[in-house]
Amino acid sequence: MAKEIKTIAVLTSGGDAPGMNAAIRAVVRTALFRGLKVKGIKRGYNGLLNEEIIDMEARNVSDILQRGGTVLGTARCLEFKEPEYQKKGATICRKHGIDGIIVIGGDGSYRGAQALSRQGINTVGLPGTIDLDIACTDYTIGFDTAVNTAMQAIDKVKDTSSSHERCSIIEVMGRNAGYIALWCSIANGAEDVLLPEKYDYNEQEIINHIVESRKRGKTHHIIINAEGIGHSTSMARRIEAATGVETRATILGYMQRGGSPTATDRFYASIMGAYAVDVLLQGRTNRVVGYRKGEFVDFDIEEALQMKKSIDEYQYEVSQVLTI
Ligand code: ADP
Ligand code: F6P
Repeated sequence: MAKEIKTIAVLTSGGDAPGMNAAIRAVVRTALFRGLKVKGIKRGYNGLLNEEIIDMEARNVSDILQRGGTVLGTARCLEFKEPEYQKKGATICRKHGIDGIIVIGGDGSYRGAQALSRQGINTVGLPGTIDLDIACTDYTIGFDTAVNTAMQAIDKVKDTSSSHERCSIIEVMGRNAGYIALWCSIANGAEDVLLPEKYDYNEQEIINHIVESRKRGKTHHIIINAEGIGHSTSMARRIEAATGVETRATILGYMQRGGSPTATDRFYASIMGAYAVDVLLQGRTNRVVGYRKGEFVDFDIEEALQMKKSIDEYQYEVSQVLTI
């Protein structure tokens, strides 16, 4: 049973994601409403080790709901993988009177939270990543905004691609996961989609598809390529040489990670932020919040880290069928 919670802290870790600010705001305001003190830890676990810890009041989180990025800053802190630094982190928490920490980030960040929990600090993780690659949840903070940003960019590339009757390879983020690519392939009506989970590296099949589409009168050919496959520029050169169709590569990059969060990201991140505070207040620790089958839920961190997630077969099939 966790000890009574009087002061909690919030930090963001790993890649930033639109909606993280909405979650921070919800944590701070829910905790204050419930009579707790709240602190913000800057720059992820780096900031914890460097004691970059600030008091958070309701006004500290004014006017951030609609902003991308994270007002607390984020970082990848490799030292925190080592037990010595995890112990130091817990000692710093105790020194600042922090009884519980809410960590907003991905799987790596949960491992840091788990380490702190083992050192006696209560922890709850929130799924913050544009990649949607966290197995215990159907939703991650930032995915909806990122996919909408990518979709709008791809629409624009499609306009010019059609006008010039070109083929376009558009590379989207997602690390080793193909969720952003899959969603864009359906939302943008792409002719081909290459997902790390599915692609068999049979480039000849793509070449044949382009040639056949041309014969059927298609004036463009959009290929969504996931970051986990990459090499879009060299692929474009090979495809142009093999098909005779002018082919360009566009790598969307970090623009997908920024920008004002959608209503979905603001809403879900806000609920999850409040939910995390309530989990701590119920005396539970080493938990991660998720959204599954229409409900907000929480899991033990270890259990969550053991879960597996894969591309939905039916959604993938639909993405293929709709390209005819
Ligand atoms: P994400 O949280 O998006 O998966 P990372 O994998 O980069 O991103 O992890 C973010 C941070 O979490 C790391 O920089 C490190 O500070 C911490 N972290 C990652 N793995 C561990 C681990 N095994 N033990 C403790 N902390 C970890
Ligand atoms: O996890 C979010 C993400 O944007 C991935 O899609 C991408 O692979 C990675 O972060 C890039 O990380 P960095 O900011 O370290 O270049």
